[in-house]
Amino acid sequence: MSFLDKMKSRYTVKKYNSKGTISEDKIQQLKDILHLSPSSINSQPWNFIFVSNPEIREKLGEASYWNKEKVVESNLLIVFQVLKDPEDFEKQIEGKLPEGSVNYYKNFVKSKGEAAIKSWLRHQVYLSLGVLLSACADMGIDSTPMEGIEPDQYDNILNNAQYETLFAVAIGQRDENDTNQPGINPKTRLDHTKVVLEF
Ligand SMILES: Cc1cc2nc3c(=O)[nH]c(=O)nc-3n(C[C@H](O)[C@H](O)[C@H](O)COP(=O)(O)O)c2cc1C
Repeated sequence: MSFLDKMKSRYTVKKYNSKGTISEDKIQQLKDILHLSPSSINSQPWNFIFVSNPEIREKLGEASYWNKEKVVESNLLIVFQVLKDPEDFEKQIEGKLPEGSVNYYKNFVKSKGEAAIKSWLRHQVYLSLGVLLSACADMGIDSTPMEGIEPDQYDNILNNAQYETLFAVAIGQRDENDTNQPGINPKTRLDHTKVVLEF
């Protein structure tokens, strides 16, 4: 199947088969794929937390509004976090990235102030979301990206000191009756001509 056909058949799962499984090999591949995500100047300001523990998933589910069932009944939850403090980020890149990259950060990002720095760091993590969703589509793994969570509660539960939660992705196997499947609920997008332009 072409990648285009895989993108046509992937969708946001609303109901999971709680008995579905994902092989260890595929989970390892997803970890390696996320680890390889591209980011501006190779900044990598992220942590990806793979949560399989049912008790932790239950607690995270309670902090996930209308997404609770997806968090609890999917096969695995991946929480995407970003470095909280720009100073920690600077320490992470000093001496590790080429001088030109560190200078790019200082001259073009840091100079714009804290809000712009934090926004730039977050953008990098969202790129890795695109990578993960595309990888899932390619590998035949069903997924649900979720911003509809309580990030502060996630942080309290996961307690990963230097990082804060941005969003999460549930992965697994769809319930065969999930009504959001494209076969039942066809995908909707803005007109092609409105979003893809040729000059
Ligand atoms: C960053 C992001 C956050 C999202 N948050 C949620 C969410 O909290 N709950 C949910 O059911 N879907 C969520 N979605 C799914 C979108 O609504 C969905 O991708 C969009 O409607 C397109 O549908 P499709 O993924 O089925 O093609 C989110 C998607 C993205 C990219």
